[in-house]
Amino acid sequence: MNKYEIASIPGDGIGNEVVPAAIRVLEAAAELHGGISFNWVNFPWSCEYYLKHGEMMPEDGLNVLRNFDQIFLGAVGMPELVPDHISLWGLLIKIRRGFEQSLNVRPAKLLRGLESPLKEPNNFDLLVVRQNSEGEYSEVGGRVHQGEDQIAIQNAVFTYKETSRAMRYAFELAGNRNGLVTSATKSNGITHSMPFWDDVFKEIQKEYPSVKSESAHIDALAAFFVLRPQMYDVIVASNLFGDILTDIGGAIMGSIGIAPAANLNIDRKFPSMFEPVHGSAPDIAGKGIANPIGQIWTGKMMLDFMGYPEIGKLILEAVEDTLESGIKTPDLKGRATTEEVTNSIIDHLKKKA
Ligand code: NAD
Ligand code: IPM
Ligand code: MN
Repeated sequence: MNKYEIASIPGDGIGNEVVPAAIRVLEAAAELHGGISFNWVNFPWSCEYYLKHGEMMPEDGLNVLRNFDQIFLGAVGMPELVPDHISLWGLLIKIRRGFEQSLNVRPAKLLRGLESPLKEPNNFDLLVVRQNSEGEYSEVGGRVHQGEDQIAIQNAVFTYKETSRAMRYAFELAGNRNGLVTSATKSNGITHSMPFWDDVFKEIQKEYPSVKSESAHIDALAAFFVLRPQMYDVIVASNLFGDILTDIGGAIMGSIGIAPAANLNIDRKFPSMFEPVHGSAPDIAGKGIANPIGQIWTGKMMLDFMGYPEIGKLILEAVEDTLESGIKTPDLKGRATTEEVTNSIIDHLKKKA
């Protein structure tokens, strides 16, 4: 029996609904497999925790987490109570950076039983590799002066090491898929970092002569995600561009509530963190109607990364069986609750024994 220690951080809002749901599915998957088990340790770090303790997680939080095999996180953010830049940089981004989770892998594809809002979705199946630790999200900058003299400066940071790492990973993935990498750029408007990005891309593409590659400006690419997503395979993007593209990825699948993600430390020096694309959805939190599929599919990505793709595949099939049977939450125009969707996925999973 292989036993894994997983840190669970439900966080805020619907994180508290979808994380327990996904844990139930992962437990059922472990039982089905027979050779793995999980020990879940729950951490209440969240905006509520911040309001009580003045910090999003204890000072030694990263030291506590580093002993775990993986981290399973829901969502962070209660903007009415705590400003987002405080809550996110105090927990989510702190973990991503502290554990050098420099790649964020986010698939988007048409699931069986789901209707895309696109008229002609043409079975798109794409994977965004988002640089996850630098780029437009940087701590370099500041605010000075008052009133009409106020100035805000935010410097983007692009390192050769991390830019090339993200691109190489995209080429590796594409080599095992449909063999196309698209680089999201904006070198027509951003004159230092993006021409640098393009230069690194030209260099890395030479290492993979059997993989096709192209560059597209992010504005056009965003439109093409809607108009012809089937043209893409693997897309490599900076932190901000990848963030925006993957909300579109969720939308064209049918809902951002089903979009999964993995924050990877590919060297496996630190735990990786598995957390869906969506946020804490304060508008529907506490109603029992959050779609658990994003978190469940994220759990599948965790199993893939841990070396159990065969069981991960069964989870996604059980999700598709459930969608096909019409059991859907309101974001997918259904009437089912979080619990009903989760129960149905578990039932379908058990049938695969
Ligand atoms: P959001 O993803 O929370 O919500 C956007 C819309 O999608 C809302 O209408 C919401 O109801 C819906 N939605 C999201 N997930 C859903 C699900 N599982 N089922 C059904 N509907 C779902 O984005 P937002 O409103 O911009 O952000 C809310 C808070 O979450 C903010 O504090 C934001 O900073 C934070 N956030 C956190 C993460 C994270 O921790 N990974 C990601 C994105 C946003
Ligand atoms: C995401 C989120 C985060 C990001 C925010 C909440 C900081 O939008 O994971 O997609 O932009 O990385
Ligand atoms: Mn986002």
